[in-house]
Amino acid sequence: MCGIFAYAGKKDCTDVIIKGLKSLEYRGYDSWGVALKTGTGITLEKNVGKVSQVESLESVNARVGIGHTRWATHGNVSVLNSHPHTDSSKRVYVVHNGIIENIAELKKYIPGDLFYSETDTEIIPKLIAHFMAEMDFPEAVKTVAALLKGNFAFVSIDRDSDYLIAARNGSPIVAAKSGGEFFISSDLQSLIAYTKKAFFINDGEMVIYQLDKQSLVFYDFIEKREVHKTAQSYDLQSGDIEKGNYKHFMLKEIFEQPVRLENTYLNYVDDFDIAFSEMLKPTIVQKINRIVIIACGTSWHAGLVSEYWLESLVNIPVEVEYASEFRYRNPVLTENTLIIAISQSGETADTIAGIKESRKFGIPILSICNVSGSTITRLSDATVFTKAGPEIGVASTKAFTTQLEVLFLLALYLAQQRGKLRHKDIINYLKNLKDIPEKIERVLSKTDQISTIMESHYAVTNALFLGRGVNYPIALEGALKLKEISYIHAEGYPAAEMKHGPIALIDRNMPTFFICIRDQSYEKVLSNIQEVKARDGIVIAVANDNDERITTLADHVIFIPETIVELSPFLTVIPLQMLAYYIADKRGCDIDKPRNLAKSVTVE
Ligand code: M6R
Repeated sequence: MCGIFAYAGKKDCTDVIIKGLKSLEYRGYDSWGVALKTGTGITLEKNVGKVSQVESLESVNARVGIGHTRWATHGNVSVLNSHPHTDSSKRVYVVHNGIIENIAELKKYIPGDLFYSETDTEIIPKLIAHFMAEMDFPEAVKTVAALLKGNFAFVSIDRDSDYLIAARNGSPIVAAKSGGEFFISSDLQSLIAYTKKAFFINDGEMVIYQLDKQSLVFYDFIEKREVHKTAQSYDLQSGDIEKGNYKHFMLKEIFEQPVRLENTYLNYVDDFDIAFSEMLKPTIVQKINRIVIIACGTSWHAGLVSEYWLESLVNIPVEVEYASEFRYRNPVLTENTLIIAISQSGETADTIAGIKESRKFGIPILSICNVSGSTITRLSDATVFTKAGPEIGVASTKAFTTQLEVLFLLALYLAQQRGKLRHKDIINYLKNLKDIPEKIERVLSKTDQISTIMESHYAVTNALFLGRGVNYPIALEGALKLKEISYIHAEGYPAAEMKHGPIALIDRNMPTFFICIRDQSYEKVLSNIQEVKARDGIVIAVANDNDERITTLADHVIFIPETIVELSPFLTVIPLQMLAYYIADKRGCDIDKPRNLAKSVTVE
């Protein structure tokens, strides 16, 4: 949570930092601020609201500066709590992402120093300034970084020198140097305009840049020694982070799904061969007797879908855990367990904590991730990358379907390697998978129909999503999409659970979204639909093409093409994403930046 962008170089840094913060706004958008070092001191500008609403700031002719876009953790949303923060002599300025956990202990270094904000951040500049009585700025930052407990990334500047210094422990930060310019940012995307190479800063490391000498030093503040680092190339295009003609990133990302799925498929499948042996060595594949999947939010839903695939195709026990719960309940992890961590961003604090917990057991950890160089990829033994491209809308869409794709490929790969499927079955599954993008295109062409449904129901206050089998997690995902971007209260359930409670909610004002495809539960779901209709409820169904029975029962039907049941989630989720989008848009919601949310949840 929170975005950090800092610059030192030949340009006036005001515009560079504001531009950087705008591209990081997905990480937090309740307030923003910059501290710019001029010839005479430091100019501070902070405000409540979104940095995207800032046209430009008056130039102060600064060459070094730091900026921040906030997602509040400690202290409410106010100008006082927004970053950068400073010490009482206004010498040191800091922007920070994460949470400092040992403030009470740290305050003992500065007795009597009064705090003006409610943030945990303010302690950092105060401590740095305190230690500067005995040492220079870089040494003071090193000392303070080593004293802090919790997950953090911070960048600091000093009124009386031209250093830009950042430290990281648990929250993401990258640095880049291009010619005489130096950048620090919470992500790579914000650096695309300047360079295609970046330094990845690890936990326990600092980066110390001095503008005048253009000197760049990396330092391990735990081991207390300099470290050598080389810049690494990354593969992102500027078109990936632009909205183009779409009204929102979410809409662009929904419509991108066919091409992103095709890219992911082509990246791993060649002539019906699934190229996963680098990531999962045959020795591990043969040994594992249990899989534990950890993830949060939409990524957790992808894990739930894959549980059906892995158990039925590979015949291996699978548990899917909320990463946040997994870590704290002393999981029993035996020697031959494989951990699969799923995360779009690769920076979700709960999932990172789950990986660290699993590490203690010395078992293999495979991650499925969309961001190369992210923390989760570096903590895992191997990563299968989804080729979704940068996902900027807070609501996850293309990351979800590409996660499903690599998880399905993983199930096929394991089934093949363990002799559970014949080559001709694998080929058949892969042919069906290859057809999915074209079938999604057909669902995407139903915008008009989906808009009509939206017009009748956008004003509701509650909604229920029901599905069975492999589409039960899609009901959860449909409910999550709707609630997070439209603020309509929505619940997802296995359809058969309706009669155990949720049926009490049904009335003529509440729509129930049914996923009712022709699978083994089809008849039972049709009965559930009748039960809702018998209580005057509204039924919106996602069903297979040419299903005439459902048209006689449901108020609205969105038809999707046939595919094998296993792959149906790729198609059933699309109309639910579209409905959530169009309903939220009609309600005037800020779709790409829903209230209270952030794209990447880097605090536990
Ligand atoms: O980056 P991750 O996949 O680890 O993020 C997990 C969740 O925070 C994320 O899926 C969240 O639930 C999305 N807002 C859902 O649309």
